[in-house]
Formats: sequence, C-alpha cells, structure tokens
Amino acid sequence: MALKRAGQTVAVVEAARVGTGVTGHTTGKVTSLHRLAYTELAGSHGDDAARTYGRANQAAIEHIARTVSGEGLDCGFRRVANYTYAETDDALVRVRDEAALAASLGLPSAFTSDAPLPFPVKGAVRFDGQAQIHSVRYLQGLAGAVHGDGSFVFEESPAVSLRDGSPAVVTTERGSVRARDVIVATNVPFGDRGAFDARCYPHRSYLTASLATGPRLDDAFRNSSFISVDEPMRSILTVDVDGTSYVLPGGEGHRASDVGDAAERYGRLAAFARDRLGAGETAFRWSTQDAMPVDGLPYVGLMSPEARHVHVITGLRKWGLTNGTAAALILTDTLCGRHSAWAAVFDSNRAVPAMDAVAPAPTGTAPPSHAPGQPGPSQPVPGAGPARPAPGEGKVIEVDGEPTAVYARPGGQMEAVSAICTHLGCTVGFNAADVSWDCPCHGSRFATDGTVIQGPATKNLPPRPLP
Ligand SMILES: Cc1cc2nc3c(=O)[nH]c(=O)nc-3n(C[C@H](O)[C@H](O)[C@H](O)COP(=O)(O)OP(=O)(O)OC[C@H]3O[C@@H](n4cnc5c(N)ncnc54)[C@H](O)[C@@H]3O)c2cc1C
Ligand code: FES
Repeated sequence: MALKRAGQTVAVVEAARVGTGVTGHTTGKVTSLHRLAYTELAGSHGDDAARTYGRANQAAIEHIARTVSGEGLDCGFRRVANYTYAETDDALVRVRDEAALAASLGLPSAFTSDAPLPFPVKGAVRFDGQAQIHSVRYLQGLAGAVHGDGSFVFEESPAVSLRDGSPAVVTTERGSVRARDVIVATNVPFGDRGAFDARCYPHRSYLTASLATGPRLDDAFRNSSFISVDEPMRSILTVDVDGTSYVLPGGEGHRASDVGDAAERYGRLAAFARDRLGAGETAFRWSTQDAMPVDGLPYVGLMSPEARHVHVITGLRKWGLTNGTAAALILTDTLCGRHSAWAAVFDSNRAVPAMDAVAPAPTGTAPPSHAPGQPGPSQPVPGAGPARPAPGEGKVIEVDGEPTAVYARPGGQMEAVSAICTHLGCTVGFNAADVSWDCPCHGSRFATDGTVIQGPATKNLPPRPLP
C-alpha cells in the first residue's frame, strides 16, 4: 500500500488467501515496546542502532494509524498502553534499566510500579500511545485498498520460481508477473539466495482466547497490553470481536525444532487465563511461528549482495506488525529512489554471527549439516515402526524403505505422504495440536494431505502408498 500511495503500480502474489499466514495469527499488538529489546540491541549493536530500531517501529505505529484512517479500514484499531512487567527482583532491575534506556533513546517510555494487571507486579516499563488491531481484518482491508487502478492482488497463486533481471520475473502456478523490482515477503524467503535459513531460526508460540468475563479484568486492564520479563513468558491483550470480549494470553514459545506436547502448552495458557487473570472459559486456541534473526535485527534490502532487483523482508522477530511495516517503509524509499535513514541498520546483507553461537540447537534435535541448496540428509525417523497410527494420530513409518508420514483421520481414513521435507530433506514430525506435519530444520509446515502451509518449502509433500 505504501508503494501504491507513492505512485507505483504493484502486484501482490499470495500463495493462499490474504491473512492466512503468520500475520493472521498474531496477538495484534502494534507497539515499539518489544519486551527488553532496547537493552538487548544496545548491548549487541550499540545505542544508535537501538535508537533507529525504536524510531522505525514508532513510525510504523503512526503509519498504520494513518493508513487505517486514510483507507477507512475496519480493523478494530485502538490506542492502548503497552507494558513489560516484572514479578521478581531480578526482572525489576531489568525493567527499570529498559525504561531508562528507552526514554534516553527518545521513546515514549516510563517506569511504573502500577501496571493494571489483576495480580501484583513489582514494576513495569510503560509505553504510551501504542495500539492494537485485528490483523486479519487489517490485511484484508489493505488488500482491498491495493487492488485497482493498475495494481493487483493475486490470491491462490503460489510463486514457484523467481528470476532477477530487467524485468524481474515471478512465476506462479497460475502465470507470471514481470516487474521492475520484486519484494520477497513470504515470512521465510522463497527463492532464498541469501542463506536466510542459516541467519534466522523458526520460533513457535501459542495463543488461547478466553472469555474476558471476570470482575478482575477492569477497564484499565482492557486498555493495555502486557508482556512479562519473567519466565514462562506471557503476553496478554484484550480484544473485542463482534460484540464478544476475549483475553488473549500467549507464550510457551520454543524453537520449532524442539519437540514438546502442544496440548500441554495450550493447557498451561488456559490455566494462566483462569487462575491469574480470572478469565472465563477458553473459546479458541492457535499457534504460529516466526523467523527470528540471529542478531536480533530484521533483514530488509537486497536478497543477496549480487541481487539487483530482488529485495527481501524477513526475520521480523515476532514483532512483525511494526517491524514489517518499518520494512515496507524502508523499501518504499529505496524503490522510489529516496534515502532511508533506517536501511543501514536493517541491511539484509550485513555480517551476522554464526547461528550456533547465538541460538544453539536444543539438545535432542539434529539441525541440518548440509549447506543450503544441497540435498539434506534424512533425520532419524521419529516414531518409526510398523504400527499404523490410531485415529487422530500421525506417525512416520517406513513404507517400501521410504519414510512416510501417515495420518489417520478421526473417522479412521488414512492419508500418506512423503515424510521428507521438500525444502532440504529433513524428516517431518507430526504436530498433534495443529494437525500438521512440521519440519524441525527450518520450520516448513504441511497439511496432512502434503500441501505447504508455511515455507521455506514451496513444493507439497508428494502422496505415498498407504502402509
Ligand atoms: C504467536 C505469535 C504472536 C505474535 N503476535 C504479534 C503481535 O502481537 N504483534 C506483532 O507485531 N507481531 C506479532 N508476532 C509476529 C508477527 O506475527 C510476524 O512477525 C509477522 O506476522 C510475519 O509476517 P510475514 O509477512 O513475514 O509473514 P506472513 O504473515 O506469513 O506473510 C507471508 C505471506 O506469504 C505467503 N507466501 C508464502 N510462500 C509463498 C509463495 N511461494 N508464493 C506466494 N506467497 C507465498 C504466505 O501465504 C503468507 O500470506 C507474533 C508471532 C507469533 C508467533
Ligand atoms: S529442510 Fe528446511 S524446512 Fe525442512
């Protein structure tokens, strides 16, 4: 939309429907207070980079506010205060430091010992003038505003190949688009020539929506959003949808490669909503994952040092509503021939530390040992064995010597697809809570019929004979 407003004609090529990706599964916080980001970024990149990150995210909030009012988007945009809160003495020191640092960087930050939560806290960083949105309605509204006057939104058009040049060409399953410039904003980059799968790691989190009915959830609570410093990390937001008010506790984050019981994770969030917030019953639950940059800063710019007209946005570090908007503003400036004061800090081709130094793989998992672009080794087959899965279960089974992902629908009907991820060849595992086949290496996810849900894989898992 920013490019269209700047006088460009654009084509959005979307594999599925607008709003079905990660952004459609967010909590909906539109904020520049990203837990303790400023302490972390000032420590690793210096105060100037932290200041730029904060300015870019603050500008993103205001850009979203202007877009919502300018385009008349009905997406529940409202202003809230956002808090990072501490329940322990150690966390209290950290929120005091974050509040002081963020204020010194020019951000709307203050320390308070009075966060409007229904349980006692020791103190919090408070950012005023923050916001929240219903992200699916926002995206659908944006798409409606983009389409027309020579610009297009093509849904259900998965891109299958990409060629840099003049023009650059994106080929989809339904035709191709020629453009002066291409921006790859597919969460984990499609057509990755910048080895972003070695510079980002997928991190998964869970959300539940409980009825916001308890007497402890007063107006001050409802007009605020929160995130904890202490572990287990909890993110909290209240949202009104079609006349019903829900409180959304989120958390239970883990690297996508970490195995764990998703049902237990949802159970802990529901218990938090009930016991600590006094909320009503859980109405919905969902999870999603985002690309985490190894050095804490998103990647925005050319896809690789050699690229000429192919740009990338990735590594939005679980704060993509503002980081993604800041990225869009950077690339709008770049493509319109203007200088962006933020581009150097978000530079997609900067040197970054090795993944293992920053985000070591959790024990018990085997990250791919192959170079990106090369066929990967098959990982040990989890749950291999002759037994078929019970109804509602998925299991990886050797069939004719091939690892095969077999899912038994609740009615008993079986689906069998290859268990070898079409990205770089790791073996997928069954995600029982979300009923999907998930790849532990770079986070690709597939439906039980093999259809890609989330990249970097672009090809479906092919069907296999039933065991
Ligand atoms: C649980 C959770 C809660 C979060 N809450 C917040 C929050 O409150 N506030 C916040 O700022 N951030 C939040 N985040 C982070 C935020 O959701 C992400 O940073 C952001 O949504 C990532 O956006 P994206 O554009 O990279 O990916 P997506 O939203 O997934 O967009 C990528 C799109 O590309 C499409 N695509 C993929 N491959 C292809 C292809 N080959 N051809 C064509 N199209 C393709 C996909 O279908 C998708 O629609 C949260 C993250 C998680 C995990
Ligand atoms: S091998 Fe990379 S996502 Fe599966």
